[in-house]
Amino acid sequence: MVQLTERPASKKITTLQQQFIYEVSRMYDAENRFLEAQQMMWECCQNNQLKSVIEPHIQETEQHVDNLEEILSILGEQPQRVTCDVAAGLISECQKFSLLGASNPKIVDLGVAIWHTKIEQLEIVSYRFLIKIAEQMQQAQIVQLLEQNLRQEEQTAQKLEQMITTLLQDCKQADTKTTAKSR
Ligand SMILES: [Fe+2]
Repeated sequence: MVQLTERPASKKITTLQQQFIYEVSRMYDAENRFLEAQQMMWECCQNNQLKSVIEPHIQETEQHVDNLEEILSILGEQPQRVTCDVAAGLISECQKFSLLGASNPKIVDLGVAIWHTKIEQLEIVSYRFLIKIAEQMQQAQIVQLLEQNLRQEEQTAQKLEQMITTLLQDCKQADTKTTAKSR
C-alpha cells in the first residue's frame, strides 16, 4: 500500500499545479532510479552496439534529472523524490530477467534492450502528459525543458527498437547453431 507520506509535504492534491508537482516529483524519482539501472544494464550487456546506445543516454538521463530539478525550482519547490512504483517494478523485472538469462549473453542483451525500451516508453508517455499540463499552466520554460527530455527519450527508444531486430537475429542464429550441435 502506498503511503501518503511519500507525497511532498503530505499535502492533499487539490490544484493542477499540485498535481503537476506531484507527477514531476515521481518522474524525478523514476529518472534517478533509471540512471542507476542504466549503469547496471551497460555492465550486463556484451553487445558493443547496444552499449553504444545505452552509454550516451546515461549522460542524457543525468541532464533529465537536472532539468526536473530546474522545473521544480521554477515552481518554488525543493526537489523531493516521490516513489514511482512503476519505475521500481520495471527495474526489478529487468534485474530478474538478467539473472534468469545469465547463462546466455545473447539472451541477456536482447532482454536488456527490451526492458530498456519499456522504460523509455514509460518516460515518453509521462513526459507527453506533463507537457500537456505545463501548457495548460502556461509555463513556457517548463514546457521547453520537458520537451528536451521527451525528445531524447524518443530518440533512444527508436535506436533501441532498431537494435532489438538485430539482437533477435543474433539469438535466432545462436539457437540454430546450438540445435545443430545437439543433433
Ligand atoms: Fe530515458
